[in-house]
Amino acid sequence: MNSKIEWIKKQKGKSLPVLTATDYPMARLLDEAGIPVLLVGDSLGMVALGYPDTTHVTMEDMLHHTRAVMRATPHAAVVVDLPFQSYATSAQALLNAKKIMNLGVDAVKVEGACLEVIRALIQEEIPVMGHLGMLPQSIQEEGGYKIKGKSEKEREQILREAQELQACGVFAIVLELVLPEVAEAVTQQISIPTIGIGAGNGCDGQILVTHDLIGFFPWFQPKHLTPFAAVGESISKAAKRYLISQDKNEL
Ligand code: KIV
Repeated sequence: MNSKIEWIKKQKGKSLPVLTATDYPMARLLDEAGIPVLLVGDSLGMVALGYPDTTHVTMEDMLHHTRAVMRATPHAAVVVDLPFQSYATSAQALLNAKKIMNLGVDAVKVEGACLEVIRALIQEEIPVMGHLGMLPQSIQEEGGYKIKGKSEKEREQILREAQELQACGVFAIVLELVLPEVAEAVTQQISIPTIGIGAGNGCDGQILVTHDLIGFFPWFQPKHLTPFAAVGESISKAAKRYLISQDKNEL
């Protein structure tokens, strides 16, 4: 396991800020700002490619965006999502994860308790980040972006799967839209870092979609976050000012 992944594992009980990166300028700005971990998340399907959900994202999309991010990130650990249906079997997962790892990234992330696939990847020394709770790649089955862990059955499932993922050797687990007390219980029960998104403040780290953080996708604002900037608004204003400046030139 490389030193960046070892460092992430040591952040248990400390602070672990993670952001998504989709392209060169964004990744470079985040890396230069000192964000220690960047995820090339398949949420890029929505915020960069305009799809309604992540199930449309292909391996080609992920490779294209990862190449751009890797040109910009000498410091951060880079984790990349294996996209929808790219890890249905262990053989397929290995083939696709190797394509991504060959770009020089530090780890891949997979959604759900696909234990056999995770074991196969780790056996080949590919570091894996887990992802439990709301699983965007299963949006059709999930029927929407709903909070997980409300029922006893869901709570038990999340706790059990987190233990299983840890036993398989994942180095951290993202908990998405998990009831805060359940996310906290998972965090206390496992020895690897949990990274929450819309899961309260009880996880070891937090991950945000950068477009949400900086107001760069103003058509959707998640409930768990008030943006720190209004980049979308700045672009609109600049474009309008440019239009006006051109009108003046014509006069
Ligand atoms: O794709 C993504 O951005 C993610 C985060 C929401 C965790 O998986």
